[in-house]
Amino acid sequence: MPRQQHFGWFFARGFGPQGWGRPTYDWNHRWTRPELYQQSVRELEQAGFDLLIIEDALSLGNPQTLNLRTRRAYGGPKHDPLMLVPYLFDVTSHIGITPTVNAGAYPPYLAARQFATLQHLSDDRFGLNLVTDTGSARHFGLEPLGHDAAYDRAEEWLAVVRRLWHSWGEGALVQDRATGRFADGDRLDAFQHDGEYFSLAGPLNAVPFDNGDPVVVSPGGSPRGLTFAGTQSDVQLALAPLHIETVRDYRGRIIAAAEAVGRSAADIRILFVFAPEIVSSAEEADRVVAASLHPGDDVLLAIAEGQSSDLETDLTGLDLDRPIDPVIFGEHVSRGTIKGLLGRVDSFADATLRQLLTAKAKKGRISDRSGFVGTAEEVADFIEQFGDEADNDGFIFSGDLHPVTLHRMLDELVPVLRRRGVLRAEWGDGGLRANLHEF
Ligand SMILES: Cc1cc2nc3c(=O)[nH]c(=O)nc-3n(C[C@H](O)[C@H](O)[C@H](O)COP(=O)(O)O)c2cc1C
Repeated sequence: MPRQQHFGWFFARGFGPQGWGRPTYDWNHRWTRPELYQQSVRELEQAGFDLLIIEDALSLGNPQTLNLRTRRAYGGPKHDPLMLVPYLFDVTSHIGITPTVNAGAYPPYLAARQFATLQHLSDDRFGLNLVTDTGSARHFGLEPLGHDAAYDRAEEWLAVVRRLWHSWGEGALVQDRATGRFADGDRLDAFQHDGEYFSLAGPLNAVPFDNGDPVVVSPGGSPRGLTFAGTQSDVQLALAPLHIETVRDYRGRIIAAAEAVGRSAADIRILFVFAPEIVSSAEEADRVVAASLHPGDDVLLAIAEGQSSDLETDLTGLDLDRPIDPVIFGEHVSRGTIKGLLGRVDSFADATLRQLLTAKAKKGRISDRSGFVGTAEEVADFIEQFGDEADNDGFIFSGDLHPVTLHRMLDELVPVLRRRGVLRAEWGDGGLRANLHEF
């Protein structure tokens, strides 16, 4: 039998204008209403997916980038995914929902209380995708912290949130109808926390969980991010090139960090972001790949728009047939994202913008591992190989949450994965944490 794996969906544009700018937007759904998300999450649950992760950004960023972020809706608007979560729980019974939560935005007591409530409301299906971006600090009247300090704050935040969740000690909840005793207040942990970033008192006024704490997902891929995952998280949302060796290495770094603090590989699920393009035949795959080698200017412009939003630098007005001057990127722009634009080229001097964008447009066949276009059987072969040869825990599919994308990705693939025993066919009843630890 192949290794059974866990699957999820990363709702990559958050609670925002899903699919804007794509031809299928003509479907004309109302992204500000819950119905599209409710319909989609039901389908993900039927598919046997363990969790849905909802991307978020707290604000539109700097005054200089407002237009870049909003004009094609790549960076906003976005509504608060936490508010959407109860609507999604209401129409499902097994799938876990994990909205993105920025540790800098919620005072720990408020976070512990709100998340405890959602964990109870959902029968233990709540989780948080914990991020540390500080680009929105000024909207909260906070000083922006540096990269590692933001992780330090998130660690303290999580420790104190967990302490609050556990502030009802063994036997504190009595609920004895015969004596009329509801609780034993002497068993509550009325602690005082005075840390580097937070000062607050316990205990929390919420009752303990039946099936463990809400699941903590983390997506940071820097060395500090991987250590955070190993030492703190239940799930790592991993973004890395999907080669057997890279996946093994990425897993190894997180597991080493986990073992250094007495945890083990069994305590964490490392799930890789994956966006295959599923087609109906090998011939169609060849056609899609061949067409991608000669993109029109409209395709290049669409890629330039997405890159401009990520890089907070407008590429769309530049001459396609000249190299880029790297000084156009501000100091604050992530070096990793800039490197992402360069792809296989060593420096901006080596290639014109057209060549860089054309390289981004290029697709490849999943069957020869040169890309992600393939039939459902070929994509299932790929998934199975990562489980068996890299001990992979699973994948998080990514894309705009839209009925069309979802059906394209799942309708043919899910039956194949089920038949092969890679994807779960039934659920336990212990919530998200139990599902993630079932195998
Ligand atoms: C797959 C993936 C998804 C992410 N999703 C979000 C998100 O929804 N919101 C956010 O503010 N940051 C998000 N991030 C960014 C990281 O959580 C983190 O804030 C930032 O990358 C710093 O971490 P790093 O330097 O360790 O990668 C995501 C990163 C990755 C790789």
